[in-house]
Amino acid sequence: MSLRSVGIIGTGKYVPERVLTNADMEKMVDTNDEWIVSRTGIKERRIAAEHEATSDLAFYAAEKALQAAGISAEELDLIVVATVTPDMSFPATACLVQKRLGATKAAAFDLSAACSGFVYGLANASNFIAMGTYKYALVIGAECLSRITDYTDRNTCILFGDGAGAAVLGPVPEGRGFQSFVLGADGNGGELLKIEAGGSRMPASAETVENKRHYLYMNGREVFKFAVRIMGNAAEEAIEKAGKKKEDISLMVPHQANTRIIHAALERLNLSEDKCVINLPYYANTSAASIPLALAEAAEQGRIQEGDTILLVGFGGGLTWGASVIVW
Ligand SMILES: CC(C)(COP(=O)(O)OP(=O)(O)OC[C@H]1O[C@@H](n2cnc3c(N)ncnc32)[C@H](O)[C@@H]1OP(=O)(O)O)[C@@H](O)C(=O)NCCC(=O)NCCS
Repeated sequence: MSLRSVGIIGTGKYVPERVLTNADMEKMVDTNDEWIVSRTGIKERRIAAEHEATSDLAFYAAEKALQAAGISAEELDLIVVATVTPDMSFPATACLVQKRLGATKAAAFDLSAACSGFVYGLANASNFIAMGTYKYALVIGAECLSRITDYTDRNTCILFGDGAGAAVLGPVPEGRGFQSFVLGADGNGGELLKIEAGGSRMPASAETVENKRHYLYMNGREVFKFAVRIMGNAAEEAIEKAGKKKEDISLMVPHQANTRIIHAALERLNLSEDKCVINLPYYANTSAASIPLALAEAAEQGRIQEGDTILLVGFGGGLTWGASVIVW
C-alpha cells in the first residue's frame, strides 16, 4: 500500500488580550523582573478573560488556520485538541470546537500529552490522511494554564500563560510535508510535573481544594535536566529519521518553556538563533499551545518559505517528548 504525503496547509493562532507582565508578578509574589528574565527569558504572558475557556481560544485559532488553508469547516474530517486544561472532563474540548466551527462531518477527540501534545496530535492526525482514511484534519494545541496555576507559588506562577495555535493538515505533493516523527514517554518521571486532584485517584473535595491539589505541581530542577537532554536527543533522532542533516534545518520551532533550554538545544544542533522561533518572552509557557503558536507566528511573519525544512521539538509532563521534521 502506498502512503499519501501529508503536510500542514494552514496555521493560525490566538492569544487573549490581557497581558500580565513581570512587574505585575512582582506585586503578586516575592520575585523580580531580573530573576525571571535571567532564569527563564519570560517578560510577560497572556491571561484569558473570565468568560474565556480553552475551547474559545482553540476556536479562534482554528478559524484562522482554516482561512489560511483555504478550506471550510465542513470539509474537515477530524479535529484533535491537545490540552491539559480542557473546558471540562467531558465532552472533549474538540467536540465543543467542532460544534462551534460547524464541522459537521468531523470526528473529534482530545489528546493528553501535556506540552508534547501538539506533536503527538500531528503524528496521530497525519496517519489518518496518509492512509487515505481522511483528507483534512485540524490539530489544535490550546491551554488556559492560568486556571491551574497557583498565583501564590513563585516557583511556578511566573512560568505559564494562555493561548492557542492550530494547524490544518492535508495531502501535499510528494517529497513535501512530514518527513519524520519521534514520540516518546517516560512514565517514571510522571511525579515531576502533575496535577494530583480532580481525577479518579483523588476526586475533588473541600480538602483537595484547601490543600491546593488542583494546581500544577512541578519539580523545576529535574524537569530542566530532562528537558535539556531530551530536546537534543529527540531533535537529532527526528533529523536522522528524515534522512536530513543538522545543517538542512531552515527553522527550529521548539517548545517555549525556558530560553536556557532552547539555547542548549541550539548549541547541540549547531544552529544559530536566527534559525529558531523564540516568542517565549511574550507568551511564557503555553504547554500544548506553545509549538503551534510559535509556528503560526513564524508563518505570519514570513519566516517560512515553500521547501524549507522545519524542525518541531518539545517535551512535557508525562514525561513525554515529540519531534518532527517537515518540508514545507
Ligand atoms: C523553574 C526554573 C526556571 C527555576 O530555575 P533554576 O535556575 O533551576 O532555579 P532553582 O530552582 O535552582 O531556584 C533558585 C532559587 O530561586 C528561587 N526562586 C524560585 N522561583 C523564583 C522566582 N519566581 N523569583 C525569585 N526567586 C525564585 C528558589 O526559591 C531558589 O531559592 P533557594 O536557592 O533559596 O532555594 C527552571 O528550573 C526551569 O525552567 N525548569 C524547567 C521548567 C519547565 O520547563 N517546565 C515546563 C515543562 S513543560
